[in-house]
Amino acid sequence: MSSVTGRKKLLSQSADSAANPAAAVASPSRRQLLGAGLAAGAGAALSGLAARPAAAAGDPVITEIQDWNRYLGDGVDARPYGMPSPYEEQVVRRNVPWLTADPVSSINFTPLHELDGIITPNGLCFERHHAGIAEVDPAKHRLMIEGLVDKPLVFTMEDIKRFPRENRAYFLECAANSGMEWRGAQLNGCQFTHGMVHCVVYTGVRLRYLLEEAGVKTNGKWLLAEGADASAMTRSIPMEKALDDCMVAFKMNGEALRPEQGYPLRLVVPGWEGNMWVKWLRRLEVGDMAWHQREETSKYTDLLADGKARRFTWVMDVKSVITSPSPQAPITHGRGPLVISGLAWSGSGTIKRVDVTTDGGRNWTTARIDGPSLPKALHRFYLDIDWDGSELLLQSRAIDENGVVQPTKDELRLARGENSIYHNNGIQTWYVQANGTVENVEVS
Ligand code: MTE
Ligand code: CO
Repeated sequence: MSSVTGRKKLLSQSADSAANPAAAVASPSRRQLLGAGLAAGAGAALSGLAARPAAAAGDPVITEIQDWNRYLGDGVDARPYGMPSPYEEQVVRRNVPWLTADPVSSINFTPLHELDGIITPNGLCFERHHAGIAEVDPAKHRLMIEGLVDKPLVFTMEDIKRFPRENRAYFLECAANSGMEWRGAQLNGCQFTHGMVHCVVYTGVRLRYLLEEAGVKTNGKWLLAEGADASAMTRSIPMEKALDDCMVAFKMNGEALRPEQGYPLRLVVPGWEGNMWVKWLRRLEVGDMAWHQREETSKYTDLLADGKARRFTWVMDVKSVITSPSPQAPITHGRGPLVISGLAWSGSGTIKRVDVTTDGGRNWTTARIDGPSLPKALHRFYLDIDWDGSELLLQSRAIDENGVVQPTKDELRLARGENSIYHNNGIQTWYVQANGTVENVEVS
């Protein structure tokens, strides 16, 4: 028997589906029918429901000539750098003003509920700055490698662009993503509960090439990376990771990094927590074990219920969220065909499978992953259902290539308590009401 806790305890008041959550789902036979229709490529079953009959021809948007059909539009010199349609002006990063004392050391969130596919547009990638956005002149930017190396080196941006390049799609997730949800459902929208994540294609150079050029000494076990912003943010990274898949990147989605994302150069630490991805990267210092103990720049730890803390929790755990429908993306079209869509990711590799439930976890259906399945990148999934207009308790559960299953929030709290801010990868629940509105709730 499911019960709902958290922000609004909605379902416990709703006799219907609290007593019988299974009643909230389309019957299996209907779902199978829809699935069979899709598999056979017969769009008819779907389009018959989704499209309007041609009798709607009295509709003035059809019978009357619209401005865009009557007047000439802007010429090709009017928009040298294109922007989205004005009708998309609500698709923006947003912050939560009460979260931090000042926007200069703060965070905003990716509007996940408005996006599709796996790539985040550059202007919508969430931002996290400790001392605001550094506006760096690339001609004056240098990257220094020093410490336990044979040959300390300084690179200009031009020097870096002469090393062999590669293109890789990776997600970046702040360790604090979903951090406000540890003690219960808090924020009403996946932009705020899960929006400290983005995924772009980076162009850059393997960090290993630069380190090999400088020659890391055998006792060089740690790397301290430092940014050129006013916080001169530093973070230490174990040498094995630095020599594995880390990159220094200068492009995102084909164009120069945005200032918000570390222009002209940022560190890319695939699958590991966002804090390590130092922006405006200007210095790398190689140190030994004793140096690392002394400097202690590993920063984030996860406080457990017994007062002990987990350290070195760098890898981002397997996680997923349904982005639509969700509180900011309610169902506005009524019953019938409904596209349930979401994102899944794992810092350990690819996503093997995503399951979706519409009844709070009683029955699960394997969702369809569509688009590229790349290691340490976002994956897009869909479940196409025929919604009968009744209440739903929507959840998604990701399983990565190593078979690691995303935990429920209860399982996570049992293992880790509620003191932590970081590494909350628990299963998210959305409560869909009959009128299509959606709320952040918890089921247990
Ligand atoms: N690098 C510098 N130099 N200064 C910063 O404040 N913030 C870190 C990391 N790198 C930060 C930084 C944190 S906590 C995160 S989550 C990521 O950058 C955020 O990257 P983004 O702003 O591109 O989303
Ligand atoms: Co962060």
